[in-house]
Amino acid sequence: MMISRYIKTGLVGILAGLLMVSVQAQAAGNATAGKTKSMACAGCHGPDGNSVMGTWPKLASQHADYLAKQLSDFKSGVRKDPTMTAMSAALKAQDIADISAYYAAQAIKVGTVDATLAAAGEKLYRAGDKEKGVAACMACHGPAGVGNAAAKFPSISGQHADYVAKALKDFRSGARTNDNAKMMQDVAAKLSDDEIKAVAAYVSGLY
Ligand code: HEC
Ligand code: HEC
Repeated sequence: MMISRYIKTGLVGILAGLLMVSVQAQAAGNATAGKTKSMACAGCHGPDGNSVMGTWPKLASQHADYLAKQLSDFKSGVRKDPTMTAMSAALKAQDIADISAYYAAQAIKVGTVDATLAAAGEKLYRAGDKEKGVAACMACHGPAGVGNAAAKFPSISGQHADYVAKALKDFRSGARTNDNAKMMQDVAAKLSDDEIKAVAAYVSGLY
């Protein structure tokens, strides 16, 4: 009895130690340093992460871990985009952590939406499509579109419709495959162009 209790206590100690090491291995982001480091990104993503062009994603209010994952994925080639492959190449782990912390702390400017498109988009977003086997976007991205940082579901609230549509088409065609367990590829595979257009419009005004 006593011995096994000692072993258990010892194991808990070892596990706790391992946990601390893995937490320390992930660089903590400094938003102030990140602001300076994001100067090179501002031309496209905007000084506060609110880009003007529809094909340049807004980064403001996005979860820091998601931003860091995307930058690492561009850097390693797991996610492909000619511009972002180049832009991420020289970033060190600390730069990625700092820049991600900076954008995560900025407020997103949500756009206004075409009401006709948004109605069809809202249905798909909230209820999915049972016949086609499409899961409700809300199940993962949340009722207000802000996702869930702990579960690694990104915020899509207020994102440009053009970018959302491109992302969905990239997941559908297999041009983007960096989603864990093919979560987005499975959803996007069943979406038509019209559904993508509608749900992208809805998301751009959702908050
Ligand atoms: C010349 C324009 C341009 C510059 C400069 C630029 N980006 Fe990007 N960025 C893009 C485009 C376009 C995409 C979308 C790529 C795609 O469609 O997959 C993108 C995507 C991203 C994403 C993924 C967003 C998401 O929601 O998944 C992150 C993160 C990002 N950029 C960060 C940065 C950082 C950090 C810098 C500066 C070091 C930077 N970008 C510089 C154009 C740019
Ligand atoms: C089972 C959970 C799940 C469901 C359901 C889901 N998503 Fe996602 N979605 C994710 C995850 C996880 C990612 C991040 C993938 C990555 O790490 O690159 C993501 C990423 C995205 C992105 C890319 C975000 C960016 O900034 O590049 C868009 C757009 C998106 N989802 C839209 C939708 C829409 C629209 C629906 C419904 C039709 C939907 N998702 C349903 C889990 C889900």
